[in-house]
Amino acid sequence: MRFCEYARKKLSSFRKRKPQIRQARKIVFQIHLHWDDQHSSYPFEAGKSLFSLFETAGIEILSDCGGTGTCGLCLVQILAGELPAPNPIERKHLTKTQLAQNIRLACQLSPKQEVSLRILSRRAPVAWRNLKPREVPDFQPNAKALEHWARGTQKPQRLGVAIDLGTTHLCLSLWDLSKGQRLAGRVGLNPQFTFGSDIMTRLAAASTEQTAKAISRITRAAIAEGLKQLVKKANCKLYQIEQLLIVGNTAMLVLLSGRKANQLLDPNYWAQFLDCQPLNTHAWAKNWGLAEGCIIELLPPLAGFVGSDLLAGLLATQLDGQTGGALLVDFGTNSEIALWDGKSLWVTSAAGGPAFEGSGISCGMPAGAGAAWRAEIKAGEKEFSLEVIGKGELKGISGSALVDIIAGLVKTGRLRANGLFHADLAQTGLKLAEKPREIILQKRDIDLFQRAKAAVGAGIVTLLQKSGLQKSALEQIYISGAFGSFLQVESAQQIGLIPELDPGKVKLCGNTALGGCEQQLFAANRQEKAKALKQKIRYFNLAQHPEFESLFFENLFLRPMKWPEGERNEF
Ligand code: FES
Repeated sequence: MRFCEYARKKLSSFRKRKPQIRQARKIVFQIHLHWDDQHSSYPFEAGKSLFSLFETAGIEILSDCGGTGTCGLCLVQILAGELPAPNPIERKHLTKTQLAQNIRLACQLSPKQEVSLRILSRRAPVAWRNLKPREVPDFQPNAKALEHWARGTQKPQRLGVAIDLGTTHLCLSLWDLSKGQRLAGRVGLNPQFTFGSDIMTRLAAASTEQTAKAISRITRAAIAEGLKQLVKKANCKLYQIEQLLIVGNTAMLVLLSGRKANQLLDPNYWAQFLDCQPLNTHAWAKNWGLAEGCIIELLPPLAGFVGSDLLAGLLATQLDGQTGGALLVDFGTNSEIALWDGKSLWVTSAAGGPAFEGSGISCGMPAGAGAAWRAEIKAGEKEFSLEVIGKGELKGISGSALVDIIAGLVKTGRLRANGLFHADLAQTGLKLAEKPREIILQKRDIDLFQRAKAAVGAGIVTLLQKSGLQKSALEQIYISGAFGSFLQVESAQQIGLIPELDPGKVKLCGNTALGGCEQQLFAANRQEKAKALKQKIRYFNLAQHPEFESLFFENLFLRPMKWPEGERNEF
């Protein structure tokens, strides 16, 4: 008893003392940050990572790994002050020249005293913007559907919202259901990028309950913001929304609902259907300011990583109604591919990373104001002419311009088919702009693009192989996704991003996931339609394909895609 009493007293005195001890040890100093022509100073506690300062100060820098040290993108330059010598992770990612210039990785630095740094890898800010009509496939609801919504109501407006939750972007559109009119559309960034730009990094982060909840929370907050902007733009009220449908790839649906991220990380579940319906949509409706009876539905994924965004894409393009062979490629961080061979819909997904969306590329950015969307080089010239979205200052390179640049470099002999720069660029990379900011395409950017292209190429070739479709039987290619909207078909074919086919038969369709979701707002028999489509689907898990590695290797090369050999089916 005496010992217990002694221990209790000790513990209580320790508890009283503990904050003072901690306080005595806390060393706070200033970190001075410079970027472009701005600078700002922040109090900083010794022992923390510089990356965490960026997060708390709301400074967005490039990162593909959530600060785990695997992407090599979070570049800063030490201008003044002392920091420990570069660690092995930094030596792996940084060149000798960069190290000599005091360039370091922010996520690996824990300053112990005042330092002054320049941020070299600031993420170009992309705010919410309007959805342009040409970004979504045309759609006019039929009279029967309109009648259904107009029947027996005195309400001036009955509203519905379609949402495509993409890995990089969040797209929302607001519809007057009884008139069949799109009233407003908004596009913003998916805030989950702070947990990594590829889905596997985000899923790994969400394997702890606390982070899964945090990811779900920030995603729902972004949807709430998008909804507010929609109704403001259309001059109506949130409580008028009666139906809200969400599509996304499986990982996005899982991360939004906050359920089953662990299962999606387990290959045993990759061929199975995952139930990721949220458990309490009433709470979501309340938090979003929607009426109590508003229907909130996540359209379920097809299987594995093939989500309801592809299901929506199949509906929007009516792929299974085509008279010839037809291929749909929805390019994204997790690209989804479907092939119609006349009897079956062969589907798969390829996790190529975010290069197509300009993320993860040192000079890359999503296709928004300030992004180069097209690049051209004339024979015998060394400089690319770039077309910039919004015609303003060049801030970065979008995925479609990257395809043009790579194709242009291959065509002019400055980049080999294996992705190695010609000697004149080997040390420096390709300088695309000097002012107001330096924009350089580096070898590692080409590598990243090649890996994304190879994953999609392996997926396309696998489906062609499995279906046995004749080359002559392929009559139509549909390209979907933000990246696909701006793509130059010839450039894409030249480096083997899509199969060779008369460019007139390659259709850039915009966001088919949102388009299909909009159609589902008006579908009386939503479940039946999806069920009928699912019966035609043959899902193929690329990760378990024994030939995946050799196909991936073959498709790394920057040359036209090889049609697979073997038995062929006539259409
Ligand atoms: S290496 Fe620093 S954020 Fe990825």
